[in-house]
Amino acid sequence: MYKEQFPVFDNIDTIYLDSASSSQKPRVVLEAMDKFYTSYYANVHRSSSNMANEATIKYEETRNKVANFINASNQKEIIFTKGLTEAINFVASSFVKDNFETVIISSLEHHSNIVPWHMQGRTTSKGLEVVGCNDNLEFDYAHFETLLKNNPNSFVSIMHISNSFGVVHDIKKITNLAHKYNGVVLVDGAQSTPHIKIDVQELDVDFYTIAGHKMYAPMGVGILYVKEKHFKTLKVYQGGGGSIDDVSYEKTTFSKYPICYESGTPNIASVIGLSSAIDFMQDIGYEKIEEIESELRNYFIKELEKIENVIVYTDNSKVIGSISFNIKDIDNADIGLLLDSQKIAIRYGSHCSKPIMGKLNISGTLRVSFALYNDMSDIDVFIKALKKAVLMLS
Ligand code: ALA
Repeated sequence: MYKEQFPVFDNIDTIYLDSASSSQKPRVVLEAMDKFYTSYYANVHRSSSNMANEATIKYEETRNKVANFINASNQKEIIFTKGLTEAINFVASSFVKDNFETVIISSLEHHSNIVPWHMQGRTTSKGLEVVGCNDNLEFDYAHFETLLKNNPNSFVSIMHISNSFGVVHDIKKITNLAHKYNGVVLVDGAQSTPHIKIDVQELDVDFYTIAGHKMYAPMGVGILYVKEKHFKTLKVYQGGGGSIDDVSYEKTTFSKYPICYESGTPNIASVIGLSSAIDFMQDIGYEKIEEIESELRNYFIKELEKIENVIVYTDNSKVIGSISFNIKDIDNADIGLLLDSQKIAIRYGSHCSKPIMGKLNISGTLRVSFALYNDMSDIDVFIKALKKAVLMLS
């Protein structure tokens, strides 16, 4: 039903089931970017030509739109970054590094929420704690509370939804527990905003990070939400043009937040594309998005269960976005390559989550992930191709 709004599908005959990696773009997003490049292309916050004014207005309107989209208390709490990875690295170096002895993460984290902590010299025996999970990959809240009790004033950095397995963390419960022990919480929302409504005030998060390109927006724009009280501690990450109030040979004074955190020319076209992506999603509404995606998920699970020797890692009826599995005694990469050859795009391997794959003693999984443009026929084609690949490799 929504596929026709995505021009890419006019040009390819691939079944795209890899939206957790990056989503395809609706026509309205491509048109908005094209309009910027062809009718008012200019830099923002600098010159005062008509074009520059229009670009600045659109850019700042998007900040306001993002604030409403996630229910931030005001638009100053929104910082544009080049992506979610940059947002986490920014907070790691400008907020956490000198202020927190301990960082607590979950077992399922993506490398982007593990590597920045290792780069600070933190390891599991020094400054980094990992919350366990049960055999179903569910977050161990009791272990989390023990870690918080033993390490009050920690920084908790946690994914909302697992990119590898679709497991959903109860963020409200996590922030309640963390705040009880004076912790501060950052949430990696890469896999949540494409699928579920986020209300940062209701969740009571301190930082929330978003990857534009996974929610129908262009690549090259991320969002960092910062609860306003934390600006007094959050240091500037990169210095340069666009972020300053004054510079002499002796010293720099920065602009007010959030502009002081956006040095250099931002990715204006992608921010404008993000604005259209938010309109696109809001016109459809999260209720509808969840309805479509849960129908796809339920049908997929039903069909997958009919295949012999399927290994799953969690209760797939509860996952959002991604479903992971293996076929007993067959390497996921071998199946993945045979699916590629049948023009099925999924992701196989470790999904940038090597630690949890190591814990499960597997090299990776086959991961199918959905978006609004998928339909039941995509699943039928996928299941047929999977059966063929399994038969060839058995
Ligand atoms: N984080 C992206 C994924 O899970 C790239 O595929």
